[in-house]
Amino acid sequence: MAKIKAALLGYGTVGQGVYTALKTHRQRLKGLLGEEVEIVGVLIKDPHKRRDIDSNIFITTEFKDILKIPGLQVIFEAIVGEEPGYTYLRRAIEKGIQVITANKVMFARYGKELLQKGKEYDVSVRYEATTAGGVPIIRTLKQILQVNKIERIQGILNGTSNFILTEMRNNEISFDEALKLAQRNGYAEENPTSDISGKDAFCKTMILSELAFGKQPIWSEVELQGITAITSEQVKQASQRNLKYKHIADIYQENGDLKASVKPILIEESHPLYSVDGVDNAITVEASLLGRFTLIGPGAGKLPTASAMVEDLADIYTVKNRQLQLSI
Ligand code: NDP
Ligand code: HSE
Repeated sequence: MAKIKAALLGYGTVGQGVYTALKTHRQRLKGLLGEEVEIVGVLIKDPHKRRDIDSNIFITTEFKDILKIPGLQVIFEAIVGEEPGYTYLRRAIEKGIQVITANKVMFARYGKELLQKGKEYDVSVRYEATTAGGVPIIRTLKQILQVNKIERIQGILNGTSNFILTEMRNNEISFDEALKLAQRNGYAEENPTSDISGKDAFCKTMILSELAFGKQPIWSEVELQGITAITSEQVKQASQRNLKYKHIADIYQENGDLKASVKPILIEESHPLYSVDGVDNAITVEASLLGRFTLIGPGAGKLPTASAMVEDLADIYTVKNRQLQLSI
């Protein structure tokens, strides 16, 4: 029986999540796609780490060996940083391989080029997992809001920061303790500075901006601040006044220019993002016909992120199957 052969780039929190999700949902995927999905290769950096992975799977530190796998159809990319992720995905597209990425640092910078290249080579480039973890904001903006004009987006886009602020408030633990917990839960980046400095949320803001407004604001003009300056005392005082610190990204048009900010804000109970706690992310969208709505859900972690990636896979192949049926 034919199989969809896939490779994982990265076998950390996200890569392992995709591996698990494909195993636990094997039958559902087979029923949906008509073929089994099989992980045939995994790219990693450190060949000496012990891995919990089937022994028949090819593990390598060389991307060129992944590209040589006969009949490889799909790559799930979950490695870290702009490079080598961008180069790897470009080369994969040029070989006609479908790509699904979680790497927001890379995609904020190179997403436009990769999508363009995908069109040139008739290859799907999917990136739901780059933004807000498992929350389906990319497909909502792409598929549900095709006619609406997006007017404004506000969101909590970093699970680690939201988790830290929530733990400091609800359980009165220190910033450092809360960060350690977020790392233990697999929410934080390899270098968590990116989470707490706002850089991670910034990248997601740029990805949303490109999709919703067709462009990004000038990066150096975006007001960017993380949560490191917020003290336990400030969190406590805010809580006594029924206020909360939330790290909020905001994208809007002003006099024809696109503006954005990514920073902590003290908000009241009436704010739509007030009740979004823990690792949850949320995105409030204002659209020309629909008006305002908010999506909320797990913004980081192994399975929520894997969920976004396997749903991308399902999308690619259900669309392909439909096209095939129409052409018969
Ligand atoms: P981890 O640090 O847990 O895992 C990273 C994996 O990538 C490791 O297996 C590592 O190899 C491998 N890797 C890193 N650099 C290279 C390289 N140059 N060549 C080959 N392999 C490499 O990260 P996560 O799984 O948490 O995150 C992966 C990506 O997904 C990141 O881009 C992150 O921003 C994004 N993401 C993460 C989410 C989360 O909740 N954690 C959610 C959404 C997106 P080795 O095992 O040998 O060290
Ligand atoms: N480190 C990121 C976060 C992972 O905490 O939101 C999800 O992109």
